[in-house]
Amino acid sequence: MARVKTVFRCGECGGESPRWLGRCPSCEAWNTLVEELAETAAVPTVAARRTGAGPMPIDRVPADEWVATPTGIEELDRVLGGGLVPGSVTLVGGEPGIGKSTLLLQAAAARATAGDRVLYVSAEESRQQVRLRAGRLDTLDPNLWLVAETSLPRVLADLEATDPALVVIDSVQALADPQLSSAPGSVAQVRHVAAQLVTEAKQRGVAIVLVGHVTKDGSLAGPRVLEHVVDTVCTFEGERHHALRMLRAVKHRFGPTHELGLFQMTDRGLLGVPDPSGLFLSDRRRGVPGSVVVPTLDGNRPLLVEIQALVTGSDLGNPRRSAHGVDGGRLNMVLAVLEERAGISVAKSDVYALAAGGLRVTEPGADLALALAVVTAASDTPLPDGVVVCAELGLGGELRQGARLDRRLAEAARLGFVTALVAPDTPETPPGIQVVPAATLAEAVRLCHGGGLGRPLAAVV
Ligand code: TYD
Ligand code: MG
Repeated sequence: MARVKTVFRCGECGGESPRWLGRCPSCEAWNTLVEELAETAAVPTVAARRTGAGPMPIDRVPADEWVATPTGIEELDRVLGGGLVPGSVTLVGGEPGIGKSTLLLQAAAARATAGDRVLYVSAEESRQQVRLRAGRLDTLDPNLWLVAETSLPRVLADLEATDPALVVIDSVQALADPQLSSAPGSVAQVRHVAAQLVTEAKQRGVAIVLVGHVTKDGSLAGPRVLEHVVDTVCTFEGERHHALRMLRAVKHRFGPTHELGLFQMTDRGLLGVPDPSGLFLSDRRRGVPGSVVVPTLDGNRPLLVEIQALVTGSDLGNPRRSAHGVDGGRLNMVLAVLEERAGISVAKSDVYALAAGGLRVTEPGADLALALAVVTAASDTPLPDGVVVCAELGLGGELRQGARLDRRLAEAARLGFVTALVAPDTPETPPGIQVVPAATLAEAVRLCHGGGLGRPLAAVV
């Protein structure tokens, strides 16, 4: 009797190994190899079916063939560069429970309301569950068709029968082709399902959105194995304990990848956040030491974020360094530069730093704000009101310009900030905001303490 042949496959990248290893030999991810049956059944090749017209001179190819259709969800359309392109496949990845099904149900319903037929394939939840959610979100539209199905051939038949303009597959990992011996969610299945759907999308000119779960334990094939198959990859992320959700395109064949979409999870589903800076700053207490506002740039989108620090005496031999929403490594670097280049030591204190509002600020443009949050916390002197701070910090204590400063400052001015502490050689500044340059961290600290930024407010207690 022939032995059943198995291979060990990486759930992250799809890499293969004949034996189990702790670390994937291809992508070096830890603990991602899972045993699965070696595929013996002939997988129908995608290449055998033509997905478009034959060869032709490039200037005869119609240029307007691929025009995005808005989904009607503004923040989603912003990320997609206008909407979903007919014939394209978009993968929306995110951790379970982050709100992928909610987002796509809302998008599907918005398209349906606009008059297009949409097919929502629920491979994880029952029809009743999806209907209940749709009822709660007030998105019941007769153009929105629903099927609970986990078999790929039947989904393809449903597609044929309903002829929709948009299909949502929730999720790609729960869909499987019974012809393949591997389990649903295995790399072989997920790849096959996605490849078939890509062919289908191109042939029918239907936009398909795939939901993909990202799991860290590697038990499900991660969306990374699909990244090269699909046209667009979006990630949906956020802190579990905050309502804020961020949507980003990490790969996009039809437009830019640097747009950020922001949502808030409410009891009526996901709501777009058109003015995030206002939201992040809305519950800020002014005149508090250890609070500095930085105009960050996420993709193309300027966001004003409050960086907070707290410095307290420590009786630990190795004082605590705690960072939430800011990078721990950057915090350590900033503290080292403060000590060596500006003579401010917090070596005997615990330091806590965070970005308020559940946002993650990792860009170097926030270095100076982080440093000054620590300085003002340690000296118990708040910055004057109406000040924003933006510069990168070098290891020599020198300050460098954050990218696209003009956009950042324009946003700060829009929200009523009047002074910006930045690196020298600022490009032209938007009206309404006065620029105070500092060449080094030490100079920036002197400006804060010496009244160079205006008179400090008394701490509000
Ligand atoms: P869901 O879209 O099911 O997440 P995913 O598909 O990414 O796994 O949403 C999960 C969470 O969102 C769930 O914990 C409940 C919450 N939620 C709301 O807060 N409000 C709502 O209107 C809906 C539909 C969900
Ligand atoms: Mg879901």
